[in-house]
Amino acid sequence: MTAQTRSPQPLTVPDLVVAQSRPVPQDFVLGVATAAFQIEGARHEDGRTDSIWDTFSHTPGAVVDGDTGDVACEHYHRYAADVALMKSLGMQSYRFSTSWARVCPGGGPVNAKGLDFYERLVDSLLESGIAPWLTLYHWDLPQALEDRGGWTSRETVDRFVDYSLAVHDRLGDRVRTWTTLNEPFCAAFLGYTAGMHAPGRTSPADGLVAAHHLMLAHGRVVQELRARDAGLELGLTLNFTVADPLDPSDPRDVDAARRIDAQMNRIFLDPIFRGAYPADLLEDVRHLGLTDHIMDGDLEVISAPIDVLGVNYYNGEAIGHEPPTASLADSVNGGRVTRSPFPAADDAHRHPRGLPVTAMDWEIQPDGLTRLLVRLQREYAGPAGVALHVTENGAAFDDAPDEDGFVDDRGRTAYVRAHLGAVLDAVDAGVPVRGYFYWSLLDNFEWAWGYAKRFGIVRVDYDTQVRTPKASALDYARIIATRRLPAPWAGLDASGDGDDPAGESTT
Ligand code: FCB
Repeated sequence: MTAQTRSPQPLTVPDLVVAQSRPVPQDFVLGVATAAFQIEGARHEDGRTDSIWDTFSHTPGAVVDGDTGDVACEHYHRYAADVALMKSLGMQSYRFSTSWARVCPGGGPVNAKGLDFYERLVDSLLESGIAPWLTLYHWDLPQALEDRGGWTSRETVDRFVDYSLAVHDRLGDRVRTWTTLNEPFCAAFLGYTAGMHAPGRTSPADGLVAAHHLMLAHGRVVQELRARDAGLELGLTLNFTVADPLDPSDPRDVDAARRIDAQMNRIFLDPIFRGAYPADLLEDVRHLGLTDHIMDGDLEVISAPIDVLGVNYYNGEAIGHEPPTASLADSVNGGRVTRSPFPAADDAHRHPRGLPVTAMDWEIQPDGLTRLLVRLQREYAGPAGVALHVTENGAAFDDAPDEDGFVDDRGRTAYVRAHLGAVLDAVDAGVPVRGYFYWSLLDNFEWAWGYAKRFGIVRVDYDTQVRTPKASALDYARIIATRRLPAPWAGLDASGDGDDPAGESTT
């Protein structure tokens, strides 16, 4: 198995780059992130049953090219080599998720073999000196629970507690950082409102109740794990946008940006940090019945104190009240009927700003990450004494491997440097960000885009499963080893892929 992983090549970036670099604080943790469904494969092995993503990806038209997670990166069988690869790159921490359908097939009783896999993974991380960062829910709800209502049913909250405690029973003595949810925005609104993600529903009302139940599930598990072990570091990961009004002097654009901020950012931040939904959000969604699902005591549970907030940031956006004149590239896929993920923001539209974009058509805007971290610290995390970590940031580009499978991905290299620089800018501004996880270690199943979009710093040849570290992996390894961050394009020229020196805007 190890033979199928190419070892990292010598680091060849010229020394001159070091001269144009800034220090990375010694205690700042650098790592990579993945998620179970996107890499594991082994769909029905050792007792695993289907999750909503198995069902969805096997639905014709749901995923680009009909791709599924059946095999993915075969990480279930290749985890040891993948951990060895991370160790060779010097990774300090690894953020991964456990599969509910592997641990509790059908949403029901515990499957010891499923837990055995995560125990092997965690032990091999610890033996390699890599700190495990565990996420309990990265979107792969057991299909059997979806059949009983999924996240629109309150029963799913109880089942999530059962599953989470089973994982903790097995790994609680070895894993210190436990995050409940990854990006409840996507789980609720891409899955239940936009129809772009599993389970593929297109109901604004369902998205809202799913969001509420996801947060309730988060709070319940935080309470339970806290009661079991006061020494754990507990929290969740949210994904954020930075919604700038297209024309800050036009009140209609300002209000459109406010709606997006409310329905993507504050809908989660306020209940968790302040124990209340934002008043303006409740007003915007008044016709959709959210308050019918909020029971006495729910907000106390949701606002159970946390220790860490994971921040996922890919891009911000300019929001106007009218659609852009040139239509935006369709971010949807497979020809499915989909709608906006925002339950009540039909009059808010994203406008391209002429910034360079990734292969996802996402604008490259590192300064948005600095502004986001400063805001989160000032308005939420700081007052609550909660630590911030960037738990995802990364870029898909149209990688062009050479005949050896090596990808000279200078655009991605510059992207990582620019965004790490943006995080350090926030640290310099007084925001105590503790770490950064690049998304992702490996090219993998990018949800509705299947294998068409590659985010990895390590290339995966899906025909052979050979892993080949890209130039970005070697550069990241060098940053970790030297604790020096080069300027975004230092020592690179823009002739590689994903090339746009405009990514240089920070540092
Ligand atoms: C995030 C997801 C992650 C990956 C990246 C590109 O929204 O958490 O699984 O798909 O986007």
